[in-house]
This record gives sequence, structure tokens and C-alpha cells, in this order.
Amino acid sequence: NKGKYEHYMQKEIHEQPESLTTTMRGRLICGGSCKSQTVLLGGLKDHLKTIRRSRRIVFIGCGTSYNAALAARPILEELSGVPVTMEIASDLLDRQGPIYREDTTVFVSQSGETADTLRALEYALENGALCVGITNTVGSAIARHTHCGVHINAGCEIGVASTKAYTSQIVVMAMLALAIGADTISNQARREAIIDGLFDLPSKVREALKLDQEMKELAKLLMNEQSLLVFGRGYNYATALEGALKVKEVALMHSEGILAGEMKHGPLALVDETLPIFVIATHDACFSKQQSVIHQLHARKGRLIVMCSKGDAASVCPGESCRVIEVPHVEDCLQPVVNIVPLQLLAYHLTVLRGYNVDQPRNLAKSVTTE
Ligand code: UD1
Ligand code: BG6
Repeated sequence: NKGKYEHYMQKEIHEQPESLTTTMRGRLICGGSCKSQTVLLGGLKDHLKTIRRSRRIVFIGCGTSYNAALAARPILEELSGVPVTMEIASDLLDRQGPIYREDTTVFVSQSGETADTLRALEYALENGALCVGITNTVGSAIARHTHCGVHINAGCEIGVASTKAYTSQIVVMAMLALAIGADTISNQARREAIIDGLFDLPSKVREALKLDQEMKELAKLLMNEQSLLVFGRGYNYATALEGALKVKEVALMHSEGILAGEMKHGPLALVDETLPIFVIATHDACFSKQQSVIHQLHARKGRLIVMCSKGDAASVCPGESCRVIEVPHVEDCLQPVVNIVPLQLLAYHLTVLRGYNVDQPRNLAKSVTTE
């Protein structure tokens, strides 16, 4: 039932404040006086010690699920102190990459049925690693075959392009980082700030959804373009990849997510006064580096659309030619959850304006069950 919405993708984008609330329900617990909050992931509590002792954490997934893991990687590294590596399931299988008994492998999959992810799970089980699932589907193959895991509880997702599952996956993985790091005193203040941020997150996402009309206007400007580049770094490298994936898969427009730190190693050659470039420059430790990227793109007459934190418009925009999208500020590791929202809206409106099928993009399937 689409309710008041025209498409499932649109409905699923707009219900993210609720789906995120459901994802967190019962999992953020008041400790003692309620001053100290902790995270409780029922499916993992008996395995946290093993995860903390593992030599490496390996995230494995495909498509949007891979991007969600990439968004969570920095906070997991920070709070766990364990090296975190990333694997696209098919690539791990193609290489028969090394997986060891001392590894924790984390399988991220909305459907829990993606063939490559499932094959990679079998491979990790054969190699003796601890296998953790993060899935939206109770009873799915990945939920059944992993040793333990977390259901993201985002509710049924119907649009082929994943939206609400993406943001719920990031939140679950941020909670995973909090749970793994919970035995360390040194990062307690950081953990509390993140937990406070999680409580506020649904309302910040609701605020970001108010950009709907603005993103529709932007879509009108961009609808006849051939291509859109999306620059991000740090926590928002994943946002760049995921934003570009949305535009590509539903709006059928070429789009590429680019790690801003790699700009001079190729992408800069594409910059001219015609190609639209979306730059994510919200406030975090990478902000000044991203400001310098904006200046360099501007100096080459790039057609810039800059996403920044509320109040930062003046400090990010070098000239009048640049368009700004202001988003609410949240704790850095949660910012990808807010930042993807305008890009989801942009992809949605581009698709409608270009006259393509929103919920079932051509050639794509919700669940890819063959290799
Ligand atoms: C569970 C119940 C939830 C109940 C709550 C109350 C289920 C599905 N969940 O939620 O209805 O309200 O207790 O305490 O009955 N698992 C995997 N692999 C995965 C995902 C999950 O092995 O990919 C396992 C977990 O290790 C766990 C079980 O499935 O044993 C349920 O996981 P999850 O729903 O995340 O647990 P809770 O949040 O505790
Ligand atoms: C398909 C879907 O390509 O599979 C994507 O169209 C999804 O939306 C990808 O991200 C991975 O699926 P899952 O279910 O393993 O997360």
C-alpha cells in the first residue's frame, strides 16, 4: 500500500524517520541513572568478546549494502581498534581472497538472499571465520546460515532501489561499533555523543526531508544532463557512491561517486563549465580539505552543487554560480544517514521527470539470486 505516495521509492524515502526509530527500538538502553546509555544488540551480546578479539573485521556485501558498510567502516575502526576491510562479495569469490579463523566476517544484505553474498558466506564458513549477518529479512538464507547477527527491522522494502534499508543498515552498524567498543573507558564520551546523536537522528532526517521541493527544482535543472559526478570523502565517501548509484539505477543517468582525495589523479580532467558536480562538504574533520577541493573545482569553472551543514553556506561557496544545499548537522559518523536523503530525493525526482519506471528500473531486480 503506497498510501498518499505515488511510488514505493518515494514512500520509503519519506518513512525513514519511522523506519530508523523502529531499527533502534529496544536497542538503546538506559544504564543506571539513565545518564549513561548503552547499546543492546540481542543477537550479538554473546559474541562481542570473540569479535573484539578477532584479528580483522571483514565487511561483505553487494550494491547499496556494500555502500552502507563503507559508511560505517570509519566508526567501527575508531571504536573497536580492529582493522576493518571491505569486500564486494563477487570480488572476494573471484579472488578466493584469504579469510581466516581469526576473522569476523560481516554479511550485509537487505534481502538476505543475494547469491554472491550467500556464496561468500559459505566460503567464510568453510574457512572457519565467525560469520555475522546484518539483514532486513527474518528467516532469510543469510539470517539462517550466519552464526549470529542483527535484523535491521526497517520494514518491508518494495522499491528496487534501496533507500530506507540503507539508512537502517548504517544505524545498525554504528550500534555494532558502539557495542564492540563498549568495554573501553577512553572512548566513553565519544560513545555517549553518538548515542545522543542516534536519539536525535529521526528528527534530523525529518528535517532533511523538507528539502524535497528544493531537490525537485534541482532535478528540473539537471534532467537533461548526460552525467553527474558526486564528490565525497571520509564518512561521506560512501554517500558519494550511494548517491551516484541511486541516480544511475533509477534515473538512468550516468553518475559516478568519486573519492575527493583522488580528484587530481584523473577526475579533474573531466571538469569544465558544462558537467554538473555535486560536492558533499558537511562539517567534519575533512571539511577544510573539502573546501579546498571546492576552490579547485571552481577555479576550473566547475558547475558546482554543494551540500553543506546548516550555516556553512557562506564558507563553502566561492561564487554565485554555485548552488548550495544545507542539511542539519549531526555527529560525524551519523552524517551519512542525513546526507543521503537529498540525493535519494534528487534521484527520485530525476526519474519521474525523465519518465522512467521508479520502482522497477529496467533490467534490475530487487533481489539478485543468480551469480
Ligand atoms: C529479538 C526478536 C524480537 C524481540 C526481541 C526481544 C526475532 C527475529 N527477534 O530481537 O522479535 O522483540 O528479541 O528481546 O525473533 N541473527 C542471525 N543472523 C542474522 C540476523 C539475526 O543469526 O543475519 C540471529 C541473532 O543472532 C539472534 C536472532 O537471529 O539470535 C534474532 O536477531 P534480532 O532480531 O536482531 O535480535 P533482537 O533484536 O534481540
Ligand atoms: C540488488 C538491488 O542489486 O541487490 C539493490 O537492486 C541491492 O538495491 C543489491 O543493494 C544487494 O541486495 P541485498 O538484498 O543483498 O542488500
